[in-house]
Amino acid sequence: MELENKNIKKETKLEILPILKDRYSPRIFAKTPISETEIRTILEAGRWAPSSYNRQPWRTIWGIKGSKTYDRILDCLSDFNKSWAINAPALFLNAFKKTTDQGEENFHALHDLGLYMGNVTAQAQHLGIALHQMAGVNHEQAKKEFKFPEEYHVVTAVALGYYGGNIEDLPEDLRTQETPEHRTRMPQLNFTFNGNYIPNEVI
Ligand SMILES: Cc1cc2nc3c(=O)[nH]c(=O)nc-3n(C[C@H](O)[C@H](O)[C@H](O)COP(=O)(O)O)c2cc1C
Repeated sequence: MELENKNIKKETKLEILPILKDRYSPRIFAKTPISETEIRTILEAGRWAPSSYNRQPWRTIWGIKGSKTYDRILDCLSDFNKSWAINAPALFLNAFKKTTDQGEENFHALHDLGLYMGNVTAQAQHLGIALHQMAGVNHEQAKKEFKFPEEYHVVTAVALGYYGGNIEDLPEDLRTQETPEHRTRMPQLNFTFNGNYIPNEVI
C-alpha cells in the first residue's frame, strides 16, 4: 500500500499491535508481587531475540522486592530513580558484552541488547506487566557490585510490576506523566526516508 506523505505527516492512523500501542513506562506499580516464573517467562522472550552472529551479548541481573539482590540493584540507581523505583515489585540490571569471542569490539552489542529488551518488554506487556527502563544508574558501581569482568558494560536498570498503584505515592511533579495519554512521538517522516536522509529542519 502506497502512503502519501501528507497522510502520515501528522499523527499516524495506522493500526499497530495493542501490546505496542498500550504500553507505557509507569513510575507506580500495583502491589501484586512478581514471581520468579513471571520473571523467567519474560526473560525467556528476550532469549529468543535475534543478535549479530547469534552472539547474544545481553546479560540481566534480576531481583524481587524483599531480596538482597533487589536491594543491591536499587543501591546502584541514581537518587531520582531510587525515589520512585523503590516501590517496584522487581528490578533488573542490564549489561552487554562489549567484545566478540576473539576479543574484538562487538559493534552491534548495544543494538542486540535493545532487541532483547524489545522482546522482554513485549512479553511483559502481554502479561500485563509494565517495565520502566532507566539510564540513571551508577554504571561503574553496578559493574563492580555484581562482579562483571572488564569486557562488560552495565547500561540500564529496569523497574517492573503490574500496571496499577497509587498516584499519591509519587511526588506531584511526576504525576502528570503517569498516564498513557502523556506519550508523544515525533512524526514518522522525521525518522523514515524512502530515499536520502533529510534533516528534520528541512521537513
Ligand atoms: C534506555 C532508556 C533509559 C531511560 N532512562 C530513564 C531514567 O533514568 N529515568 C526515568 O524516569 N525514565 C527513563 N526512561 C524512560 C523514558 O523516559 C520513556 O521510555 C520515554 O519518555 C517514553 O515514554 P513511554 O515509555 O511511556 O512511551 C528510559 C527509557 C529508556 C528506553
